[in-house]
Amino acid sequence: MTHRAAWLECARVHPPSAMEPQPQTATDYELLARLVGALIHEIKNPLSALTINLQLLREDWEHAELPKEQRSLRKIDVLLAETRRLEEILNDFLRYVTSHRIEPVDCNANRVAEEVLRFVAGDCEQRGIRVRTDLDGTLPTIQADARLLKQALLNLVINAQQAMPRGGELIVRSWAQGPEVLLEVTDTGVGMPPSRLERIFDVFYSTKPGGSGLGLPTTRSIVERHGGRLEVRSEEGKGTRFTIRIPAFAAKEIRP
Ligand SMILES: Nc1ncnc2c1ncn2[C@@H]1O[C@H](COP(=O)(O)OP(=O)(O)OP(=O)(O)O)[C@@H](O)[C@H]1O
Ligand SMILES: [Mg+2]
Repeated sequence: MTHRAAWLECARVHPPSAMEPQPQTATDYELLARLVGALIHEIKNPLSALTINLQLLREDWEHAELPKEQRSLRKIDVLLAETRRLEEILNDFLRYVTSHRIEPVDCNANRVAEEVLRFVAGDCEQRGIRVRTDLDGTLPTIQADARLLKQALLNLVINAQQAMPRGGELIVRSWAQGPEVLLEVTDTGVGMPPSRLERIFDVFYSTKPGGSGLGLPTTRSIVERHGGRLEVRSEEGKGTRFTIRIPAFAAKEIRP
């Protein structure tokens, strides 16, 4: 599964004493995201001009017969493939940037969790990951952008999967606590040392080959846009737990 990323009667996978909660506060990644967004738009226009002209050039050489002409055609194809790759990268970043804009409606967090889990079920089975859920059926409705909340949760679930290369347990739990709805994702994976935990919400921070390091910053941005908080606890060698807290009646506090 590409990166384009819940819990239970909380199974006490990790002793709480060893895993102090680490509430995260907003950093200036939003400012960086805005700059990246502006840069993307600047790059996209000349890039599409490049792509269109390469396509026209390719049409001119389509019926190339001489070896030299055919070599040119192959080079044009390489250039076209590279421009397409560049466009994909830019679109990934654009997704991150647009995670700041939400359109909240009445939403049941359990449905979001169920959809995400349905989406990853086959993948979990293949990876030897057992999925357990404990979703509170009496959960109050939240005002949320379901598409973005799904993306936020999916990023956590994908990270959990990737943290369990030899299989394990993925636990997704929801419950209400005072005025908040909580969604938790726990894994029994590799966990993280405190030095790593300090950096995981930094934009572009990744310990994975090919990882963009945008998954967690995107998730946190989405949660905070909903007036909520994202917390994490982790213990090296034992596992990790992310908790999304969203106010049940936050509609009027949400900035578009
Ligand atoms: N559940 C987890 N268990 C262990 N380490 C984790 C977990 N979730 C995140 N991490 C660490 O935090 C880093 C940042 O995560 P993040 O999702 O932002 O980026 P990524 O997964 O590396 O790349 P991508 O942009 O594809 O999501 C990861 O590279 C990994 O080191
Ligand atoms: Mg990730």
